[in-house]
Amino acid sequence: MTSTARTASPSPAGEKTPPLLDVDPYSGPVLADPYPFFETLRETAAIVELETYGVYVTGRYEETKIILNDHDRFTAKAGIGIHDIRKPGKFRIPNRLLENDPPSHTSIRGVLTRILSPIVVRRWREHFEKEAVIFADRLVEKGQFDGVEDVAESYVLHVFPEAVGVELPRREALAIGEMSFNQAGPDNELHRAAVKKAEPYLDWYDRSAERESMRPGSIGEMLFEAEERGELEEGVATNMARVFVRGGMDTTIAGIGFTLNQLARNPDQWAILKADPSKARQAFEEAIRHESPSYVNFRTTTRETELSGYHLAADTKIGIFSGCANRDPRFWKEPERYDLTRDTAGIHVAFGFGTHNCIGQMIARLEAECILKALAERAESIELTAEPSYRPVNQLRTLAELPLKVTPRKAA
Ligand code: HEM
Repeated sequence: MTSTARTASPSPAGEKTPPLLDVDPYSGPVLADPYPFFETLRETAAIVELETYGVYVTGRYEETKIILNDHDRFTAKAGIGIHDIRKPGKFRIPNRLLENDPPSHTSIRGVLTRILSPIVVRRWREHFEKEAVIFADRLVEKGQFDGVEDVAESYVLHVFPEAVGVELPRREALAIGEMSFNQAGPDNELHRAAVKKAEPYLDWYDRSAERESMRPGSIGEMLFEAEERGELEEGVATNMARVFVRGGMDTTIAGIGFTLNQLARNPDQWAILKADPSKARQAFEEAIRHESPSYVNFRTTTRETELSGYHLAADTKIGIFSGCANRDPRFWKEPERYDLTRDTAGIHVAFGFGTHNCIGQMIARLEAECILKALAERAESIELTAEPSYRPVNQLRTLAELPLKVTPRKAA
């Protein structure tokens, strides 16, 4: 428990205090199925205070966008996890891009935007597509496989590290990812177990983002070149290479898993994709709207402020549950339904919104599009052979297993 010591100050006339909610979003049952909590959160109020942790949270679409687009009142500098990383005992090295505000954020983001330009990303397309075809041929021949381990993890861990420029052995990469997404939550058993699991790989992790480990022509190498030219402060290239690995791997794996799960559960949607495999990107985009990998990200109030009629205390964490906002019926029609024809790209908040919206989203889309399209071109049907299971992680929603069966396309 990380209760925030808050100095009580009376709310100005007309402003209400956010109601208290006695639910722990990091408890086992809620992590296993957060949707009943999401509904309670959205329907209780626009902003509520979580009694267990003394933090504010929102699950509504409108407030999510307001908070994420206002770094002046809601800073990212105190960390995007539940702890204030500026406070004694809670310090950890911040993510120099995400846990930062303009103007410093703007100058780093400018350099990264140039490095991740559409031309650079387009150059990877050919390679990603070629590899996806090899994967899909193998999967269809196999017939039965795990959508997490054999598709999402294997494909992402094959193509993504090459683009970032680092070596990512599977066991090491998955252990570090799990530690990182648990670290942003409370100091619970999940966090402690993940740290223990990752401990043997911490030295490898330190070395993996050094200058000499970067592949030529990769994002990593371009980051170090920008640092050498003085465009990035010393230390930012290493920090960013690590952030790309941590932030871009598990999220994309989760998103591809969610898409396969929904396609297998909804034969009408699979039929749409099979008829036109170029809709693979839409299938992915709607899947991460319907079930969002990023569970909760925090900002911190910079002063006493008001939001949607609620009085918020200064220096207090406020969490945004993007998967909850992505099903807010105030904004979405039939939000529980997976409908790949829905117009979602740039509208859902699975990639965040505003100042810190995901800078790697075109890479995630490219990976997902390539593997899903290759599969849709080769498989006639896709179905679940058992119910999927979820892996509990404090700050990430992701699948553990997704047992699938596909049949090969019938000759035309
Ligand atoms: C489906 C896959 C992905 C999802 C769901 C996702 C989600 C997000 C979200 C929600 C944010 C905003 C966090 C906040 O505002 O607190 C974000 C930011 C970010 N993401 Fe992603 N991400 C994905 C893939 C990637 C990839 C592939 C990369 C790297 C190549 C990446 C790198 C980043 C970085 C560096 C930021 C910080 C941007 C900034 O502060 O300006 N992400 N992502």
